[in-house]
Amino acid sequence: MSTLFIFLWMILPFCTESLVFPRQDESPLIAVLGFDRFMNIFDPSDGPNATVLERINLMGGDWGGASCSIDFNYRDNVIYWSDYYESKVYSLKVNGGDYEQRVILEDGLDFPEGLAYDWIHNNLYISDFRRHEILVVNPDTGDKRTLITGVPDIRDVEVDPRTGWLYWISGWEDTAVLMKSTLDGQNQVVISSDLAMPKTLSLDYDEQRLYWTEMSPLNIIKSIGVDGEGLTTVYQTVSGRLSTPPKYLTISREYLYWNQGHETIRRADKHQVTEITRYRNVEERDARGKPTNMFMGILAIDPRKQMESENFCGNNNGGCSHFCLPTLIQSTPPYNCACPDGMNLMDDNYSCFDERQM
Ligand SMILES: *[C@@H]1O[C@H](CO)[C@@H](O)[C@H](O)[C@H]1NC(C)=O
Ligand SMILES: *[C@@H]1O[C@H](CO)[C@@H](O)[C@H](O)[C@H]1NC(C)=O
Repeated sequence: MSTLFIFLWMILPFCTESLVFPRQDESPLIAVLGFDRFMNIFDPSDGPNATVLERINLMGGDWGGASCSIDFNYRDNVIYWSDYYESKVYSLKVNGGDYEQRVILEDGLDFPEGLAYDWIHNNLYISDFRRHEILVVNPDTGDKRTLITGVPDIRDVEVDPRTGWLYWISGWEDTAVLMKSTLDGQNQVVISSDLAMPKTLSLDYDEQRLYWTEMSPLNIIKSIGVDGEGLTTVYQTVSGRLSTPPKYLTISREYLYWNQGHETIRRADKHQVTEITRYRNVEERDARGKPTNMFMGILAIDPRKQMESENFCGNNNGGCSHFCLPTLIQSTPPYNCACPDGMNLMDDNYSCFDERQM
């Protein structure tokens, strides 16, 4: 063993950069998950030659994990992701140079594919493809409530706690729909059924438009206003045997970022895809130049996506003993208390009791 090696071993831990969430006046960072259970972070403002600032190894199964959905909690410096091979949802707390990873939820999940965090009311929404369900989870206590059942082929969810709507894409071909409901799962509305093979959904909070990808052979990114107006095809890759669909998608400020197939990461203007930036230095290749990465979920970590606004539950969780879930804004009160699965709401409509203990 050379002295150089020992020297590097001593010095490297102090040299590695560690992830710090960007400030509002800084550009967003992009986090992309890999099947081999890692997360790569890069700064897209470095341009097409941007390199990986940090690679974080993630918890999960021994033989890889299908980490497909990812969101963040800006206030607490946390990233959440789901793994549908392990049927678990995890969190990673960015804590100075340390990363504290833990399982948030594992019971009652089968194929957790979509995930979205409500940063105002501290609720994590999860969609389960095989159970055909949308769940809500308190990421701190692990309390879980099944919110909506019987949603076939549910792929992804998005949440806007400022307007009080939860969005999702589900179904395939004739049954494909883009829907919304209030955050308590009530007041369901079809926004559009003009889609066929939806995969991932991303909300542009600034312009109140939803963007989603559609799989092969459509290979398309579409967008629509949250009110169902203004359906647009934003991007379509040339169809053909060798073409790859845009799969996972995230939006931040003026840009769309997506994984084309599982190999490449691209960016383009959200209004008009004329010029596409490909981040080649974030990709990994073997000695013969063959791509070795298998990218999964992608996320723009951007504080401007999580602006503070009115908490519909006030500062005391609406008086609810467990979940406080906002409902139509014009209701009084504008929320409903709800209980974790296995518990029931008492007659006061605020407290939960465990039916097994009665
Ligand atoms: C990126 O790197 C290539 C090759 O090193 C170089 O030719 C090109 O000018 C760089 N582009 C930018 C925008 O820095
Ligand atoms: C609880 O909610 C139910 C259903 O909305 C309602 O009928 C009942 O009056 C409520 N109870 C109280 C104490 O407010």
